[in-house]
Amino acid sequence: MFEIRPASPADRAALYRICLETADSGADATGLYRDPLLVGHIYAGPYLEFAPDFAFVLKDGAGVGGYVIGVLDTAAFEERLEREWWPGLRSRYLDPADVPPGERTPDERLAHLLHHPQRADPAVLAGYPSHLHIDLLPGAQGEGHGRRMLERLFTALREAGSPGVHLGVGGRNTRAQGFYRHVGFRELARSPSGAITMVLGL
Ligand code: ACO
Repeated sequence: MFEIRPASPADRAALYRICLETADSGADATGLYRDPLLVGHIYAGPYLEFAPDFAFVLKDGAGVGGYVIGVLDTAAFEERLEREWWPGLRSRYLDPADVPPGERTPDERLAHLLHHPQRADPAVLAGYPSHLHIDLLPGAQGEGHGRRMLERLFTALREAGSPGVHLGVGGRNTRAQGFYRHVGFRELARSPSGAITMVLGL
């Protein structure tokens, strides 16, 4: 039986592992990256560190099978990343700026991202200042846990005063796109690479 509970610092390794094992458009990206921590450093670690009130895990007897992580105020979160999170990583991972984009390895693409992070569009943040990531391992998918975890996060965000949440989903991750539409998100923008920004009022 799975239960949803607030995440704790002890869940950090599980979050990093699940992040990697779902990072290839929802599928396992373990074979894609040479450094197994890089994906988690970007998409999991800072959420647990800076927004623990909006981090929840799905757990059963076998351990943590998924998580949802969010932030209340994306702009403030991005400022904090600049001050307190990226500097340490930038000193450990070189900026591959001189490698042409088309020739970068998957690790180099992520290293470039942490040196040159994309900032959220202020026009999106005006109505939907919060954002989230959700990842469940295959054994936990398709049983309604994703919906329940989003509802848990939305309750926490609503109680903290958020008017709305946005997210970014890759163009190849059609399953997650269908899930988000089904639970009420609408598409706001699509990038040339096919990545979609979706929003939901709370
Ligand atoms: N199209 C239409 N409806 C769907 C789809 C789909 N592709 N997928 C699920 N649904 C529906 C379900 O039928 C269900 O409907 P109901 O509540 O009306 O009966 C509802 O959505 C909820 O489905 P859940 O079973 O809760 O979905 P699940 O637990 O599998 O969670 C998730 C979905 C989060 C995408 C999960 O499969 C997952 O973690 N996948 C791998 C990682 C991933 O891709 N994460 C998203 C990355 S993008 C980001 O985090 C911003």
